[in-house]
Amino acid sequence: MDLLYRPRRLRTSETLRTMVRETRVSRQALVYPLFAVDGEGIVEEIPSMEGQYRYSVDRLCVILDKLTAAGINKVILFGIPAQKDSCGSQAYDENGIVQRAVRYIREYYPAVYIITDVCMCEYTSHGHCGILEGEYVDNDQTLEYLNRIAVSHVKAGAHMVAPSDMMDGRIHTMRLALDEAGFVNVPIMAYSAKYASAFYGPFREAAGSAPAFGDRKNYQMDYHNRKEALKEVELDVAEGADIVMVKPALSYLDIIREVSDSTEVPVAAYSVSGEYSMIKAAAKAGFMDEEKTVCESAVSIFRAGADILITYFAIDLARYMDEGKIG
Ligand code: PBG
Repeated sequence: MDLLYRPRRLRTSETLRTMVRETRVSRQALVYPLFAVDGEGIVEEIPSMEGQYRYSVDRLCVILDKLTAAGINKVILFGIPAQKDSCGSQAYDENGIVQRAVRYIREYYPAVYIITDVCMCEYTSHGHCGILEGEYVDNDQTLEYLNRIAVSHVKAGAHMVAPSDMMDGRIHTMRLALDEAGFVNVPIMAYSAKYASAFYGPFREAAGSAPAFGDRKNYQMDYHNRKEALKEVELDVAEGADIVMVKPALSYLDIIREVSDSTEVPVAAYSVSGEYSMIKAAAKAGFMDEEKTVCESAVSIFRAGADILITYFAIDLARYMDEGKIG
């Protein structure tokens, strides 16, 4: 055959294939989600997320040692308080679970960069992400609480805050609140395109944050929509977001691509609890190869345009990178 173009030519050896790769991955871009729970001596596995645990502050060393040994130096921190109330007061308490966890990490693991999730659903008795007026989450009242939470996280030592509530105008008011408190250099990573997703199921078990009634559809986005995500990103950037996020990741690769093409700020993607548990369950049943599936899905998220990947598989991915399986 007289063929000028033979795409297979560049696929003839592993050396060549790794040379012409279009997507490179680095552990610098990985962030690990960490669950801190009130109490002492606790390392408990999350039933819906095999291999993931909740840690009391005094046991955070168990996971932080593993992360640092794997070269992962960034975490996004979630708190699970012992007490909840209608306004989530433990979320902004100076001695709340996140504030104590942050102080612990800053003291014992100074090289770890701490991002805190700023939201109320783990702290409210009703499980919604804000202050209720009847059954509706009141946007503007909630903003004041979110600001208070963010400032208290940063006072405890958080390096970056990540509001995940999806209230309107939160980036604007949070930026002002942080600046006023003197934290002009603390970046905000906005959960900008956060969809109302069934893929958060395992997380809600992990964090005990399922809404007591209804769902989150009047604040999180409808998954039928694409342009709305671009609007949310545009608003957040205009309001001062330093990094924008798309969440979940795997079913939203189209959104990651469009956001990455249309914005100038770094784009984070959150590969959420359901994505983790699906792979774990399928692998356990012997239906899929865990390692290969984890590698392929992580690379696909970067290929779609993500600059940063938040993933429960961070430690595994660091190992796969070392072993030359990806990157
Ligand atoms: C808090 C929050 C959620 C997740 C991150 N921050 C849950 C939700 O919105 O219901 C989900 C993370 C995951 O599923 O891994 N609002």
